[in-house]
Amino acid sequence: MSELATLGLARVNDAREIAEMSRDLVEQGLTWSWTQARVQHFISGPESSVVVARREQHIAAFAIMHFGDEVAHLNLLAVAPEHRRQGLGRQLMRWLTETAIEAGVFRINLELRTRNEPARIFYERLGFDELGIVQGYYQGREAALRMSRRLAKSQS
Ligand SMILES: CC(C)(COP(=O)(O)OP(=O)(O)OC[C@H]1O[C@@H](n2cnc3c(N)ncnc32)[C@H](O)[C@@H]1OP(=O)(O)O)[C@@H](O)C(=O)NCCC(=O)NCCS
Repeated sequence: MSELATLGLARVNDAREIAEMSRDLVEQGLTWSWTQARVQHFISGPESSVVVARREQHIAAFAIMHFGDEVAHLNLLAVAPEHRRQGLGRQLMRWLTETAIEAGVFRINLELRTRNEPARIFYERLGFDELGIVQGYYQGREAALRMSRRLAKSQS
């Protein structure tokens, strides 16, 4: 399937679907931490953006970013398996990167599970560098790889 997706900001009533995607696609084997209430908080919050890609009324992909004064943090990104390798992850990251640049942010940081090699390659292709391993990052029981990308106006 490679039909067009519609990108836009998430609505509060998307929170449940996003939370369930996080549980199933990102947090497998961990305690579910991105609950509906937490996602709702980020959808409504003034310092965060939750972006979704919709196909046929369903959320095919989503991303959550928190904006600090100078650094943004990518909290979550997931594309449903049947929609992968069609550029949706890249499109969501482009949206959030442009938003970050507009907000005056000069760096995006993120963490991923160390065994998540596909995501490491994905972020590397998007210009992220590896900063190092953070032991116990996930609920004190699993390490993360931290990656970072410096932004400039011409890089979105
Ligand atoms: C990682 C993830 C977000 C990528 O999303 P996607 O929409 O499939 O990625 P894109 O189609 O935009 O890929 C952009 C480029 O990244 C690279 N890439 C993406 N997935 C890859 C994979 N599985 N293996 C190798 N390279 C990959 C490729 O270079 C790709 O370009 P190409 O398809 O033209 O070769 C998706 O696989 C996913 O949701 N995984 C599970 C959740 C997760 O790991 N989230 C990130 C950590 S929180």
